[in-house]
Amino acid sequence: MAASAYVLLISMLMPIFLSSFVSADPDLLQDVCVADLASDLKLNGFPCKSNITADDFFFPGLAKAALTNNTFGATVTPASVTQLPGLNTLGVSMARIDYAPGGLNPPHTHPRATEIVFVLTGELDVGFITTANKLFTKTIKMGEVFVFPRGLLHFQINNGKVPAAVIAGFNSQLPGTQRAADALFGSSPTVEDHVLTKAFQVGTKQVEKIKSRFAPKK
Ligand SMILES: *[C@@H]1O[C@H](CO)[C@@H](O)[C@H](O)[C@H]1NC(C)=O
Ligand SMILES: *[C@@H]1O[C@H](CO)[C@@H](O)[C@H](O)[C@H]1NC(C)=O
Repeated sequence: MAASAYVLLISMLMPIFLSSFVSADPDLLQDVCVADLASDLKLNGFPCKSNITADDFFFPGLAKAALTNNTFGATVTPASVTQLPGLNTLGVSMARIDYAPGGLNPPHTHPRATEIVFVLTGELDVGFITTANKLFTKTIKMGEVFVFPRGLLHFQINNGKVPAAVIAGFNSQLPGTQRAADALFGSSPTVEDHVLTKAFQVGTKQVEKIKSRFAPKK
């Protein structure tokens, strides 16, 4: 009797545990809430605008490869709520990432989303690192899929001789991206040198050199 009551209690509480651990963005309370990106109102997400059209749910920006002639040889084109206001409150978004041969999407995290990538073209070496500092890597090619768990540091590099591209899906309307090197060496104001020399066990000169590469663009 006592045991079955306990089982009943657990089964009643389980959905509460699951929803608090599984959900990413908050759940919808209405059909749509197209982001009013111009609103000054500060809240969790964006306020809904009233006069909406099909174009609020449309974004053509992932159709073509982006230029990759930058420092890292890789370009992320987001299709998050900022580009696609109809995503507001829907808890999903996408991106396209293009890589030149040798191109790197440097180690970064998405604080609000798990990312799943589908390789459109080419081949990539990808990896993520758990909080136990275990690295999981894989080579993925056209048509294959890899997942980067929410919040964990990850990267992709095109070690091939031809360009590569992926489409990424996220379980957040605005996954957020924090690049490790930019955050630590390119913040504004800058993190004090002695924090970084101690953290990385190197000298001030080395820290200053890295900082010079990541100085925020004015
Ligand atoms: C709603 O938006 C459409 C297209 O942007 C515009 O033509 C129309 O005048 C707007 N209607 C109202 C009531 O604001
Ligand atoms: C990248 O290439 C485009 C087109 O070839 C050019 O307009 C642009 O200035 C280049 N950007 C850099 C950073 O070299």
